[in-house]
Amino acid sequence: MAKNREKDDADRGFNSSVMTGVDSSISLLKLISTLIVFVVGVVIGLVSSSHINRYLTFQDDRFTFTHSYIDSLQFSVETPQLEAQCGREDCLSIESFISPRNLNHGMTDGELFWRASMVPQKEEFPFKKVPRVAFMFLTRGPMPMLPLWERFFKGQDLEKYSIYLHTHPRFDLNVTKDSVFNNRQIPSQGVEWGSVSLVDAEKRLLANALLDFSNERFVLLSESCIPVYNFPVIYSYLIESTHSFVDSYDDPSRYGRGRYSRSMRPDINLADWRKGSQWFELHRTLAIKIISDTKYYRIFKKYCRPSCYPDEHYIPTYLHMFHGSLNANRTITYVDWSQIAPHPASFSAVNITESLIQSIRNNGTFCSYNSEKTQICYLFARKFDASALEPLLNLTSKIMGF
Ligand SMILES: *[C@@H]1O[C@H](CO)[C@@H](O)[C@H](O)[C@H]1NC(C)=O
Ligand SMILES: *[C@@H]1O[C@H](CO)[C@@H](O)[C@H](O)[C@H]1NC(C)=O
Ligand SMILES: *[C@@H]1O[C@H](CO)[C@@H](O)[C@H](O)[C@H]1NC(C)=O
Ligand SMILES: *[C@@H]1O[C@H](CO)[C@@H](O)[C@H](O)[C@H]1NC(C)=O
Ligand SMILES: *[C@@H]1O[C@H](CO)[C@@H](O)[C@H](O)[C@H]1NC(C)=O
Repeated sequence: MAKNREKDDADRGFNSSVMTGVDSSISLLKLISTLIVFVVGVVIGLVSSSHINRYLTFQDDRFTFTHSYIDSLQFSVETPQLEAQCGREDCLSIESFISPRNLNHGMTDGELFWRASMVPQKEEFPFKKVPRVAFMFLTRGPMPMLPLWERFFKGQDLEKYSIYLHTHPRFDLNVTKDSVFNNRQIPSQGVEWGSVSLVDAEKRLLANALLDFSNERFVLLSESCIPVYNFPVIYSYLIESTHSFVDSYDDPSRYGRGRYSRSMRPDINLADWRKGSQWFELHRTLAIKIISDTKYYRIFKKYCRPSCYPDEHYIPTYLHMFHGSLNANRTITYVDWSQIAPHPASFSAVNITESLIQSIRNNGTFCSYNSEKTQICYLFARKFDASALEPLLNLTSKIMGF
């Protein structure tokens, strides 16, 4: 039936165009002369604009000189023939499209989120795609655990991970040229604890990491986080997981449901409201959903204000409402809430023992993983202060396997 109707419509369209063609045969001459005038106009326009273009391009080249210089330096190492054909910045290359090496850019958040939301329609990739884990560090300044992370990444396959740092906008991480953390700071903005700017920073990290098409899993970490397993274990745990790990639960207390605002109705009801730790792990599909959402983000920005913390509610609630089946609803970042305090406990040098790390790795309790049971519930842990570094470095090879 539907097919027939489509055909009818096509027939009618054909008939009517034939009819009007006959009717207007007299004005055909008129049409041709109009066309000639139009074509001449276009040619004159093109000739004059090419002069203007050349002028503009020249200006543009001067402005972007530093950029293209750096780009050509990076590409000349692996693909000298590419540079010969194409030294300019606007030259299209698959390398810089699928995996931008220079993390610096001048895009606004709006431009960045839009670009990062692009999804290829073609299933095969025209390059060897090794799925990567993006380690995204949301930090304020120095990273006391840096030597531990350097050891964690040492000797690992560079194709299997990438690192992104969101810092204070004026902070400059001083690391040596051969460090895996060198040149991994993304264009950052100020973050105010407890405000929506924290969610903005998380989205900024996600969007910058999404620009690399090989990034498949996205882990959010802080400067006080440590890995409690080695890279190969963490890599396969994440890459092989059918779920993302975002803490998301209903907390009936005033610290959960108490932070809900009735102004969010009817788009978000109290029954939809969820809470969870901000330290998420997301699959690429969900990362794209989160940076693409405007509607619910705006509601949180408007109505989730102190003492409502958008970073603890926006992503857990949004995923629960629309993508719950893709979420494990638990976090893979351990934190100690055993002491009664508004903040979780910090670990200092005195607290670091083999048994502490061992118990975080495996506490005899089970978690679900791909619909089965596993003894590995946590891959990372927080909050460790600077004094914990040395004793932790002493334990890595014996306990953590790196
Ligand atoms: C960076 O570190 C090097 C070596 O540790 C040191 O010599 C240099 O002064 C540092 N630079 C800044 C800006 O802190
Ligand atoms: C997580 O919660 C959602 C509801 O938000 C549910 O549909 C899903 O099955 C849960 N995930 C697991 C692994 O139990
Ligand atoms: C660390 O050790 C100190 C001193 O023994 C203790 O007071 C504190 O509760 C410990 N912290 C944690 C998180 O266990
Ligand atoms: C391990 O389990 C015990 C008993 O359930 C609990 O007291 C302890 O805090 C847990 N430790 C960790 C690191 O999860
Ligand atoms: C680290 O290990 C070395 C050698 O085993 C030892 O001398 C040192 O005291 C340890 N440091 C800490 C902070 O545990």
